[in-house]
Amino acid sequence: MGKDVIIACDFASAQETFAFLDRFTEEKPFVKIGMELFYAEGPAIVRELKARGHKIFLDLKLHDIPNTVKKAMAVLSRLDVDITNLHAAGTVGMMRSAVEGLTRPDGTRPLLIAVTQLTSTDQAAMEEDLWIRAPIDEVVMHYAENAKNAGLDGVVCSPLEAGKVHARCGAAFLTVTPGVRFADGDIGDQKRVMTPAEAKRIGSDYIVVGRPITAADDPVAAYRRCVKEFVGE
Ligand code: C5P
Repeated sequence: MGKDVIIACDFASAQETFAFLDRFTEEKPFVKIGMELFYAEGPAIVRELKARGHKIFLDLKLHDIPNTVKKAMAVLSRLDVDITNLHAAGTVGMMRSAVEGLTRPDGTRPLLIAVTQLTSTDQAAMEEDLWIRAPIDEVVMHYAENAKNAGLDGVVCSPLEAGKVHARCGAAFLTVTPGVRFADGDIGDQKRVMTPAEAKRIGSDYIVVGRPITAADDPVAAYRRCVKEFVGE
């Protein structure tokens, strides 16, 4: 898999999701399914979207004891998702177990990426609530290295961090970046944003784009604009 635009399908039901995706008659976008949609519709939504030809990033951010995560990952692997994720805070041991659980008998597996620190967690919350007394940038890079050492394929990060992650963990270590906005668009509740073209320049491997596409008057045109800026012609 190479550079691609992943549409965040932050919808509450399968019906809304299919109504949105039915507008795409010429392409089959890579889609992200998060907790809301998965918990509402269950594995059936994944099977249906796969049957319709979409690649899927299942964004469930697992974090539990290694044995539980291993077994849960084996289930997600059988669902044939293309990318899934977990919290690096679950430790290197948990991440290694996740890779084991995800690996199929023939040795293949979906890509597995880690969340380092959520972007909703700032320095103060990390220190006061989580009792982690180090600069947040260093914590993010340390967790990214842990993910690499555990055998994961990359991290979810801000496009602003993608260059640093590649410098520390290598160019082949994937950076999947939300927080993307068009230069002339509304940034909404995102604080630190980049355009698809800037994300490309800084070396993001995948961009995750929600509202700039899902809330656009013409979502297909917005998706095509994103692909054009990020992937090129
Ligand atoms: O609508 P928007 O483009 O902001 O959607 C971005 C998507 O990426 C949402 O599904 C959001 O939950 C997710 N995300 C994010 N920031 C993170 C991690 C995930 O915006 N740090």
